[in-house]
Amino acid sequence: MHVDLLFTPLELQEIYLQNRAIVIIDALRATSTMSVALQNGADKIITKAGIEESIATQKELGANALLCGERGGLIIPGFDLGNSPFEYTNQTISGKTLIFCTTNGTKAIAMTQQADMVFLGATVNGQATAKKLAACGKDITILCAGTENKVSLEDTLSGGLILTELCAIAPHCQYNDAALIAMQAYHKNAEELPQLFLQGKHAQKLIHLKHEKDVLFCAQKNTVQTVPHLCADGFFHC
Ligand code: MLT
Repeated sequence: MHVDLLFTPLELQEIYLQNRAIVIIDALRATSTMSVALQNGADKIITKAGIEESIATQKELGANALLCGERGGLIIPGFDLGNSPFEYTNQTISGKTLIFCTTNGTKAIAMTQQADMVFLGATVNGQATAKKLAACGKDITILCAGTENKVSLEDTLSGGLILTELCAIAPHCQYNDAALIAMQAYHKNAEELPQLFLQGKHAQKLIHLKHEKDVLFCAQKNTVQTVPHLCADGFFHC
């Protein structure tokens, strides 16, 4: 099994999509929050790159669909929910369809629709994601969403965690150099992920916006068992 990690969406080419399973990682916070939302009872999730198309989708889907997401880390005006995992309680989202639009995460997801299988991964669901990958029987691409096309510390560490868990189940994978770098970074810091997450550029912005508890939540390993998986209906289910 070939496993390639891409540090940013700028590296994405067709060869990383065709006949492959792809995992998009935006640990702060989009893919962490979407994993939590499905675990807490959301019916399904559709992701959109832009605000206008999200609003148009809500008009099509009707009142059971909530508009979710952020720009600049803040809830988009007129949307129902922002991008904090703490907003996605069972009481708020049970049985709802969620339309997600975020700055980096859902844009990266929009670039991957040609892949055979699309999953959403993070540190919170790292082990569960690795199990899905080990079972899928395909070559694998790990796409870190990064921050505005730059490498991000938290996505790289989350990729390292997922690949370390994968390596434990499927020991004969062939990794690209970026995957090896991510695994090394994770091994060296496996017990200090919260402290490391807090140092990253995007975390600093979230701290400034009083979202430090989101950063600490998203730095927790393997606390979520759901792995959003893109299905034929165009929605992510778990
Ligand atoms: C994104 O997609 O850029 C992030 O999830 C931003 C955020 O932390 O809300």
